[in-house]
Amino acid sequence: MTVHFIGAGPGAPDLITLRGRDLIAACPVCLYAGSLVPTALLDHCPPGARIVNTAPLSLDAIVAEMAEAHAAGQDVARLHSGDLSVWSAMGEQLRRLRARGIPFDVTPGVPAFAAAAAALQAELTLPGIAQSVVLTRTPGRASTMPERETLERFAATGATLAIHLSIHALDRVVADLTPHYGADCPVAVVWRASWPDQRIIRTTLARAHDDAQGIDRTALILVGPALAAEGFEDSRLYAADYDRRYRPVGADPRFPE
Ligand SMILES: C[S@@+](CC[C@H](N)C(=O)[O-])C[C@H]1O[C@@H](n2cnc3c(N)ncnc32)[C@H](O)[C@@H]1O
Repeated sequence: MTVHFIGAGPGAPDLITLRGRDLIAACPVCLYAGSLVPTALLDHCPPGARIVNTAPLSLDAIVAEMAEAHAAGQDVARLHSGDLSVWSAMGEQLRRLRARGIPFDVTPGVPAFAAAAAALQAELTLPGIAQSVVLTRTPGRASTMPERETLERFAATGATLAIHLSIHALDRVVADLTPHYGADCPVAVVWRASWPDQRIIRTTLARAHDDAQGIDRTALILVGPALAAEGFEDSRLYAADYDRRYRPVGADPRFPE
């Protein structure tokens, strides 16, 4: 018996891995985080599966479901939105499962920031403009931020920021970032990336407050010069004169075949 943690992707039901889909189909129990996981994914559950929305449950109640399945020798598909490596509350569940000796594994999913970048048809790391993406958030009712992890500190690097769980705090985000990026810095707000009603707002730090009126909850705020850069250098990777392992160039290539 295994509890399979599965990244359910950002919303579009076909943005799940084949492995994730097959695991759902093979598990007689499915626990899903109903606030964001698309219910269409539940169509993959086998007939008669026990399907539980964990959004209204406490951690103890969720772990009790897993323990019950363990006692019955039934595999569990545990679905969380996006990928499990960020803001999934997987860590605390794994700790409880380890303590009880219940086996588990983890299958990755498409994270919201990647779905938002795809919606924008944007590469977030452009040569000479930004080579880092910071996945971050602002404090919420249920989560404080470690003191050192301030938007200002991240902004000081000039990296592309993907700010989660923060659309309600857009004014504060703008105030913290403007001194570092400048009022004209491009911003993209992507609401419900990959959902049928997805919305994209391309704006700037100066205009974000007005342009993103009415956007709430499931939205990502992307900030940084890479979002609107056109005059960046080509990467060296595909330069005709760049000698590389997969495309040796010149009379004396660095990686001879
Ligand atoms: C609890 S976090 C989950 C993140 C998820 N584990 C991931 O890999 O992206 C929820 C936040 O992620 C962002 N988010 C999740 N799905 C999204 C989507 N489809 N479009 C835009 N933002 C999304 C929003 O900022 C939302 O407040």
